[in-house]
Amino acid sequence: MKHIMVIYHSQQYGNTRKMAELVAEGCREVPGVQVTMVNVNEQRVDMEALAACDAVALGSPDYFSYVAGGLKQFFDDAWIARRAGKSTAGKPYVAFMSHGGGGRAIASLEKLAQSMQYTAVAPAVLCQGAPSGDRIQACRALGRALAERIR
Ligand SMILES: Cc1cc2nc3c(=O)[nH]c(=O)nc-3n(C[C@H](O)[C@H](O)[C@H](O)COP(=O)(O)O)c2cc1C
Repeated sequence: MKHIMVIYHSQQYGNTRKMAELVAEGCREVPGVQVTMVNVNEQRVDMEALAACDAVALGSPDYFSYVAGGLKQFFDDAWIARRAGKSTAGKPYVAFMSHGGGGRAIASLEKLAQSMQYTAVAPAVLCQGAPSGDRIQACRALGRALAERIR
């Protein structure tokens, strides 16, 4: 069984959580893949679990044109754990973001992912507000693409 962690920060309206749930649905469409979801606004990511997983889907709202605090904390933790010898770097990943009309924060997410030597499997999906219309399928397709990469 392959393991994907869907790691996201969601706080204001739950928009990024809705995207995360769709991404997770897409991952689960691929047989042999199990998914763990963590809202980093509510809890920290366990670094042992991160080291053991095969891929990560990373989601954030755009807060002040930067990733939200919980996701920044995740990258800080992953970096420190890596320096302590845990295998938290070098994973396949996809990114998703909810925004209020800007969306510039996606650049910070991708830069942080690059710092961890994560490899993007597909272009990031952005939604203004909650996912609707073609963004619903785009989120599912993002999860599916990640799962298919590691199956
Ligand atoms: C503190 C804060 C800062 C924000 N800054 C931006 C911003 O710079 N650009 C933007 O497009 N949206 C901004 N927004 C809007 C959020 O990105 C948007 O409402 C998003 O859908 C919230 O996701 P969530 O419901 O998962 O928390 C901001 C919202 C908050 C609460």
